[in-house]
Amino acid sequence: PFQRNATIVVFGASGDLAKKKIFPTLFTLYCLGSLPQNIKIIGYARTQIEPDEFQKRVSAHFKTTDKTRPKILPFLQLISYISGQYDTDEGYIELKRSIVKHEDTVGSSPSSRYRLLYLAVPPTVFVTVAVQSKKHLYPPLNEGQARLVVEKPFGRNTSTSNELQEYLKAQWAESEIYRIDHYLGKEMVKNILLLRFGNVFLNAAHNKEHISNIQIVFKEQMSTEGRGGYFDDMGIIRDVMQNHLMQVLCLMTMERPVSTSSEDVRDEKVKILRAIKPITLDDVVLGQYGRSENSSKSPPKPAYTDDQTVPDTSRSLTYAAVRLFIGNERWDGVPIILRAGKALDESKVEIRVQYKAAPRGMYYDLPRNELVIRIQPNESIYLKINNKLPGYSEDITVTDLDLTYNQRYPNIPIPDAYEALLRDCLSGNPANFVRADELELAWKVFSPLLDEIDQNENIKPEIYPHGSEGPKSVNQFLRDKGDYKSTMT
Ligand code: BG6
Repeated sequence: PFQRNATIVVFGASGDLAKKKIFPTLFTLYCLGSLPQNIKIIGYARTQIEPDEFQKRVSAHFKTTDKTRPKILPFLQLISYISGQYDTDEGYIELKRSIVKHEDTVGSSPSSRYRLLYLAVPPTVFVTVAVQSKKHLYPPLNEGQARLVVEKPFGRNTSTSNELQEYLKAQWAESEIYRIDHYLGKEMVKNILLLRFGNVFLNAAHNKEHISNIQIVFKEQMSTEGRGGYFDDMGIIRDVMQNHLMQVLCLMTMERPVSTSSEDVRDEKVKILRAIKPITLDDVVLGQYGRSENSSKSPPKPAYTDDQTVPDTSRSLTYAAVRLFIGNERWDGVPIILRAGKALDESKVEIRVQYKAAPRGMYYDLPRNELVIRIQPNESIYLKINNKLPGYSEDITVTDLDLTYNQRYPNIPIPDAYEALLRDCLSGNPANFVRADELELAWKVFSPLLDEIDQNENIKPEIYPHGSEGPKSVNQFLRDKGDYKSTMT
């Protein structure tokens, strides 16, 4: 599916995202033979860096094995670096020269050639680069295609996001814009639709008659250290909930699409987003991490506000639990609970579907069935079922039907999310990217709540100890709001 001749321009090439994610991923794809045959990669940023130094920086984060190490040098030969401003023409003119030179050298037919422009730049220059790129780097009519790859943050509420999208849309066609939500590149997330719609028994019970609640849980041990400046303006709801967890929610709750085509799938996601009811303050627990509790084993870990770049009085959220409802025939009345937090006791992302209790009579108060899809770490799907203890015992036990990937598929490596998504950009498949209407609707779900939290200084997050399970009141919240019978997991 790969067109043979591509130029990739990475804007923001000296930044963290480029260094830690984009270049290492391109290197992995190169080793796998998954890059187009004739490829040129150009890094572009404001910083003046000597070519040698740039190559050193780029390769610092490559994941290598004995087999791939010899490929580093030939890969680096495909890369060049141009330093220039984002808002003036000179740099783009030089970029264009370099792109055209590559295209002319390989001399492929225009129909098999494209330019992939990856905007790994700060939000402040995002629009400028998109506009300048269109002006200078867009291929002339019938002489190949262009794709623009963009990453969050897409604004910080509905109006700022819409404004940004308007600028983009004025220059670029929707089909040319690849909005990355890297959760859509994760193996288990890509598996959700097949799991639901390809398994008759799961699909038959996937509704309000059989499901008590669905939880989507994102837990991270990592704190915000070093990212305080960015994070403080965003908070956890904007950082992971409005995007990553909402995408997972859509896939878990949408109706069966007509086909697997990107438009059919995204049309169904949009319907779910439109059916989500407004979230009130009564439906949330908000938290921020404080210092860790005293322990004789390790030194105390800092509070969020101990970060130099965070104001002492910050009310920014590092934890949120949100209950929402979907007003449609399938889900009416079923609580969907999203939980996301940083500086917690463990790192884990999973979806938990808790079924209703089995009817009483023959048996009483059986534990409920639960379907768990563990997105990370250690991908797995397991179903908690009630089972007779073998032998003469009449005892009932809860056990797991367990599909743990590293046991079932020990020899199949699981691609990193960026790897999967960059592959999709290169082959021109937009299915796992966010369409403009999805983005807008996902903001609409959270914007009123976020605006209210921003404006009302009396709303203060509950402080939880760094490295703990999260705010104390979450357990009660789950019992009251989630019809959830176990404690936090
Ligand atoms: C990013 C957020 O989008 O996702 C980070 O900005 C978060 O704060 C990260 O840590 C989580 O991604 P992953 O792939 O590590 O679960």
